[in-house]
Amino acid sequence: MNTQELSATVQALVAKNRGILAADESTSTITKRFNSIKLESTDENRRVYRELLFTTPGASEYISGVILFDETLRQKTKDGTSFPAYLAQHGMLPGIKVDTGAKALAGFPGETITEGLDGLRERLAEYYKLGAKFAKWRAVIDIGSGIPSAYAVEANAAALARYAALCQEAGIAPIVEPEVLMDGGHTIERCEEVTTAVLGTVFEHLSAARVYLEGIVLKPNMVVSGKKCAQKAAPDRVAEATLRTLKRCVPSAVPGIAFLSGGQSPTEATLHLSLMNAAGPLPWALTFSYGRALQENALSAWGGKPAAFGKGQQALFARAKLNGLASIGAYKTSMESPAP
Ligand code: 13P
Repeated sequence: MNTQELSATVQALVAKNRGILAADESTSTITKRFNSIKLESTDENRRVYRELLFTTPGASEYISGVILFDETLRQKTKDGTSFPAYLAQHGMLPGIKVDTGAKALAGFPGETITEGLDGLRERLAEYYKLGAKFAKWRAVIDIGSGIPSAYAVEANAAALARYAALCQEAGIAPIVEPEVLMDGGHTIERCEEVTTAVLGTVFEHLSAARVYLEGIVLKPNMVVSGKKCAQKAAPDRVAEATLRTLKRCVPSAVPGIAFLSGGQSPTEATLHLSLMNAAGPLPWALTFSYGRALQENALSAWGGKPAAFGKGQQALFARAKLNGLASIGAYKTSMESPAP
């Protein structure tokens, strides 16, 4: 294992003022996003949209790395530069989603296991040659009546650990993403309880699998109340509960934690991150690895219209900048521009 290479990648991903753009939506997920702007999900439309995101002027000031989907890793800008090469030339590390999705877990109704371990060693070798410096694997844990089961949590943690070890063997830094979903009516206390159990199990497995903790980025959910919970926890409670959970579960050997947004609004995701960083010093860098919370405004500003390409880019830049500020605890809601 080349520990130096892995540490350098991770340090670059979580460097001051910067975070990760998750643009690794599978074809079915990006199709849902395009439906919201009534745009057909063709190969070319997906390519153009990804080009809009990656070629945003100034993006690399706040974006350290971009997670790509297999199709996008093989696509090119209109000038013929492959996306991973373009990103690398512009100071952003290219990454790749390598799991093949969360599938129903046999015998456990309502629970899933993330697949993609078969053939992963060979796929990682190819991705490395295509320029990928880091990877992502997302485990999904749902909260509901009687779930998650201990078995589902164990099985997903074991898969995350096997994935992380294979990545490190290939010189690719793994983003370890155990996502406790915010769907459902659970309280913030229940989210804290489940997130604590999940992170505890994940770190047991990472350690048992001999994963080099200095060479990973953890990508967790924040501790929030469920979307359908009658009592929505205020931002300062979210920040407090999330920090308490992370301090209990995440060894300080882990250099950085980059949150997913998970269905929070763009402003909520930015505010929560900023409040946590303002409460530092913390044992790890705390930043973003947002998909929806970074892209939502850009997608609607563009709307699939060629003439609004630049508007889409401006919206992405504005959001990335605010999240860059949040990663050092310097964001204020008053910095939001009024709705058009
Ligand atoms: P969201 O920020 O939209 O949750 O996406 C992040 C991600 O990469 C989920 O796997």
